Amino acid sequence: MNVLVTGGAGYIGSHTVRALLDHGHSVVVLDERPSRAGATLEAAHWVQGDIADTTLVRRLLVDHAVDGVIHFAAYKSVAGSMREPERYFRNNVAGTISVLEAMALSSTRSLVFSSTCAVYGTPERCPVDESTPIHPESPYGASKALIEQMLPWFSTIHRLRWVSLRYFNAAGASLDAKLGEDWDESTMLIPALMKAALGRREPVDIFGTDYPTPDGTAIRDFVHVLDLAEAHLQALEYVARDGESRVLNLGTGTGSSVLEVLEMARRVTGREVPVTFVGRRAGDAAVIWADATRARELLGWRPRYGLTEIVDSAWRWHSSGVQG
Ligand SMILES: NC(=O)c1ccc[n+]([C@@H]2O[C@H](COP(=O)([O-])OP(=O)(O)OC[C@H]3O[C@@H](n4cnc5c(N)ncnc54)[C@H](O)[C@@H]3O)[C@@H](O)[C@H]2O)c1
Repeated sequence: MNVLVTGGAGYIGSHTVRALLDHGHSVVVLDERPSRAGATLEAAHWVQGDIADTTLVRRLLVDHAVDGVIHFAAYKSVAGSMREPERYFRNNVAGTISVLEAMALSSTRSLVFSSTCAVYGTPERCPVDESTPIHPESPYGASKALIEQMLPWFSTIHRLRWVSLRYFNAAGASLDAKLGEDWDESTMLIPALMKAALGRREPVDIFGTDYPTPDGTAIRDFVHVLDLAEAHLQALEYVARDGESRVLNLGTGTGSSVLEVLEMARRVTGREVPVTFVGRRAGDAAVIWADATRARELLGWRPRYGLTEIVDSAWRWHSSGVQG
C-alpha cells in the first residue's frame, strides 16, 4: 500500500514507519520536524510541514496515490495541555480536521487514528474495555475524544473508514537499539528514569503517593512500541479490507504501578535511580489498564512484550549513546 504517516518523525510514528517499510509498503511521512535518519527510515519519502496545511496534505495524498493514512501528529503531554489547552485543541483537533478534509477532497478513504486511554479519565473499574464511558480529565484527552466524535460523521458523509486506536502507555525501544523515545521530547516516566540512571538529570519526580492503590502510586498499562507498530499495520489492513470502523484499545491487560516500574528500572540498569516523591499532578488518572480483547478479535493483535522487555530495550537504547 501507499501510506501517508503524519507525525512519522515521532516516537511511535518512527517505529511504525520502519515496520511499514519492512513489510514492503511505500511510505510518505509528513512531520513538522526534520526527517529521522538511520534505522532504514530513509527509504520513506519525508516531507517537512504542518498537518494544518490542508492543501499540502491533499497534494501528498493525490501525488503519492495514498491508499491509507496513519495519523499520529499531535501534541501529547497531559501536563502541557493543562497549561495551554488552546495549543492542544488547535493542533490536535483543528489539525485533524485538516487531515480529514484533505482525505474528503481526495480518493483516500482509510484512516488509522492515534487516540489514547486518556479519553477514559479515571474509570470506575479496570480493566477498561471500549464500552467504558469516556470522561477525559485533561484537554489532551478531550482533544482525542472530540476527534472520535467527529469520525463517524466523516464515515456517513464522506465514506471514510477508520480505526481509532486508544493506546495505553507506549514505552520501550527497538530491539536493535536504533530507535527509541527521545528523552528531550518526552515527559514520560521510563525515559526520565533512564536519564536519571545515567546521572544525566536531577531526580525524577514521582507524582502522588496517596492514590488508592496497593503502594500508593498511580497504575498504568505499559505497552511496547513494537507491539503498537504491529497493531497499526494490522489496523491498516483491516480498514483496507473494508472492516467496520471501530475504536480499539491497545494495552497489555496488566497494570504496573509507578513504584514497580522504578524497581524494574533499578533492576535492569543495576543502578540507583534517584527519585523525589511529590504531590499528584493535575490531569493524571489514578489507575487504568486495558481490556484489549476487541483488538485481538478484530485484528488478531496480541502484545508480545511485557514490562521487562520494555525497560530492557529502553535501557539499551538510552545507554547506547544515541541520545545527546
Ligand atoms: N506515547 C504515548 O504513550 C501515547 C499514548 C497514547 C496516545 N498517543 C498518541 O500517539 C501519537 C504519537 O505519539 P508519540 O508518542 O509518537 O508522540 P511524538 O511527540 O513523539 O510524535 C508526534 C509527532 O507529531 C509531529 N507533529 C505534531 N504536530 C504536528 C503538526 N501540526 N504537523 C506535523 N507534524 C506534527 C511532531 O513533530 C512529532 O514528530 C500522538 O497522537 C499521541 O497523542 C501516544
